[in-house]
Amino acid sequence: MHLFRELVIEDYEQILDLWRNTAGVVISESDSEPSIRAFLDRNQGLSFVCEDEGQIVGTALCGHDGRRGFLYHVAVKSSYRGQGIGSALVSSCLEQLKQRGILRCQCMVLADNTVGGRYWSAAGWNCRRDVLLYSRDT
Ligand SMILES: CC(C)(COP(=O)(O)OP(=O)(O)OC[C@H]1O[C@@H](n2cnc3c(N)ncnc32)[C@H](O)[C@@H]1OP(=O)(O)O)[C@@H](O)C(=O)NCCC(=O)NCCS
Repeated sequence: MHLFRELVIEDYEQILDLWRNTAGVVISESDSEPSIRAFLDRNQGLSFVCEDEGQIVGTALCGHDGRRGFLYHVAVKSSYRGQGIGSALVSSCLEQLKQRGILRCQCMVLADNTVGGRYWSAAGWNCRRDVLLYSRDT
């Protein structure tokens, strides 16, 4: 029986374990416990997990900056894929963004992540090939 609920900081050990074991998910310094805690505090009610018998089998980390929504670490344990869990998690995030007046959401996918890329395309997301992402440390 799958249970969908808000992702809370108490899930940290389990979600980190899932992310570490999911190809296509990149772990960075932003995934430390204090960073995830701060992210969740700033973006309450936007991130979700799927649980099966107390074990977290899917995550979607979501936030917004007041203009656009962002999804991170949309990950479903491999043995649970293809059952609609990823889509349900993403839908919950989009619904919450919409309720907050955020009308567009974005997700960064590594160019070599074919599983992730195919998923977003199949789910109707627009792959922006006209945009380059520039980033630097603060
Ligand atoms: C991407 C991912 C989250 C999808 O999770 P999932 O629970 O298997 O997805 P769903 O079952 O909700 O699938 C939703 C739809 O996408 C399709 N889909 C899912 N994965 C797909 C893939 N790799 N290729 C093509 N279509 C795919 C499904 O067929 C389904 O279509 P339908 O609604 O018409 O049946 C999961 O494959 C995963 O964790 N991948 C590794 C991490 C990753 O790459 N994350 C995304 C980048 S951040």
